[in-house]
Amino acid sequence: MSANVSFTEPWTGTLTHLEWSTPRLLLLAFINIPILSIVVNALWQLLPRPKSQPPLVWHWIPYLGSAPAYGRDPIGFFSQNREKYGNCFTFILLGRRVTVTLGAQGNDYVLGGKHTQLAAEEVYSPLTTPVFGKGVVYDCPNEKLMEQKKFVKVSLTIDKFRSYVGMIEDEVKEYLNGDPEFRIWQTNDINEWGSFTLDVFAELTILTASRTLQGREVRESLNKNFAQIYTDLDRGFTPLHWLMPGLPLPSYRKRDAAHKKMSSFYQSILKNRRENLAEHEDDDVMASLMKQKYRDGTSIPDPEIAHILIALLMAGQHSSSGTLAWAMLHIAGRPDIQEALYKEQMESFGTPDGGMRDIDYEKLRELKVLDAVVRETLRIHPPIHSIMRMARDDIPVPATLSAPSEDGVYVVPKGDIVLASPLISQVDPAVWEDSDTWEPLRWYDEKGVAAQANKQYNEGEKVDFGFGLVSKGTDSPYLPFGAGRHRCIGEQFAYLQICTVISAMVRRCEFRLEGGVPKPDYASLLVHPLPARIMYRRRKFD
Ligand code: HEM
Repeated sequence: MSANVSFTEPWTGTLTHLEWSTPRLLLLAFINIPILSIVVNALWQLLPRPKSQPPLVWHWIPYLGSAPAYGRDPIGFFSQNREKYGNCFTFILLGRRVTVTLGAQGNDYVLGGKHTQLAAEEVYSPLTTPVFGKGVVYDCPNEKLMEQKKFVKVSLTIDKFRSYVGMIEDEVKEYLNGDPEFRIWQTNDINEWGSFTLDVFAELTILTASRTLQGREVRESLNKNFAQIYTDLDRGFTPLHWLMPGLPLPSYRKRDAAHKKMSSFYQSILKNRRENLAEHEDDDVMASLMKQKYRDGTSIPDPEIAHILIALLMAGQHSSSGTLAWAMLHIAGRPDIQEALYKEQMESFGTPDGGMRDIDYEKLRELKVLDAVVRETLRIHPPIHSIMRMARDDIPVPATLSAPSEDGVYVVPKGDIVLASPLISQVDPAVWEDSDTWEPLRWYDEKGVAAQANKQYNEGEKVDFGFGLVSKGTDSPYLPFGAGRHRCIGEQFAYLQICTVISAMVRRCEFRLEGGVPKPDYASLLVHPLPARIMYRRRKFD
């Protein structure tokens, strides 16, 4: 096939006929369409915009928008655009409009918004439903999620926490005694330094969470086969799987197969437990879920119990292991804090013969240095940098958030994703002194900014969204566990787990860091440190 093109040469006036073949035309289109769309997109951005719309971050490539800049370094991206546009602006993320609202008021706008106007499930479901499964979390109406959160919350009692501390310490002991990363530890030599990778914290997190929350069968099944299923599931929990659901790629197929296997695994445990009720008196989250009922009187179906447990496994794993890794990196890099932590362990658990008692829950909660270490780690390294909701309506942004100008108040249009980043307010130099420095000492000052922010977060007005009273706290500059109806229910457990693992390690080893604390890796959904090794040396202890 070919096409005839005729044109008059402007400089000579002669009529020229060209016969172009299809490949040539296609090539021309191939080159020109992208250029044309870039030009049209640039011109469109230069057109006057409705004054009520937040400013749009400039981008050259349509559809792709600001995805590379946001994906590479979300915090740098937010900070730069905050300087340019203020606390409220919109950017394009793979064809979606995302309106960012920053600062404590931005957090309040997103996290404190009405559920009828700002919905989490419409944003998160494409990512979470294939991994967690049907009928739970974001694959159900919000009222049902609130009930599911209540089911889990009531099963996390103080009595259980008391028993978990010993189990977690045992897991750390066994790990140090058996894992090849701790070969030097196993030689009993207190002078030699060894080193381990940060993968240790992912392993300790899954071992301790399965021994406590997930139940004995899950802990007993943590073998290579389980690890492979978990890995396939986990690899389906990435920004790509969220933004481009359903691509025909192996990681999507493996994720779906892994979900089926994981769901059947939990359901077979449930079946087994039901058949042997008298034999085992388990006291874990699964046992508690088996006894509870939805408000309409129905029991929780087995597939839903299985999917809630998968959700807990996934929600807790990266957040706790990342926090542990950051905390231990900083501890290793700050000998003064490490010494204070060790002294605190000795003072609280030391025995007259120079040894140490097992850790106990009540005492653990009183440890001031340890508490400050975890709070400070969550301040500068919260695992979730972007919290999102879908605007179900046109929603005005409070005047105090919009740049004060004659433009008046911005309105987020229906269909936009709105995004808050508590990390930005947690490292805002206008709020925190030396905001980028990891400094646990800031939490000692009872009248300081940190203590006040924490008070605002945890001691303000209480609201019950359906899973028990929680402090509203949405306008605090410190929100590591989110706020409002989607606030984390794993907070107490995570604290307990992280504090016990740190205690168990600090009393047994000294740590050292060579090369400084690594930078954050933003490639995964939950922020982790880039790979690094921590040096350790055995202390004179058990
Ligand atoms: C929600 C952080 C550990 C289960 C959240 C949210 C944050 C968060 C920021 C709010 C998300 C949003 O508003 O969109 C953390 C951190 C953790 C941690 C920093 C550890 C250091 C855990 C653990 C579990 C868990 C151990 C399970 C045992 C959940 C659940 C939700 C949640 C079920 C509720 C989701 C919703 O209502 O939409 N977490 N989390 N988290 N987290 Fe955690």
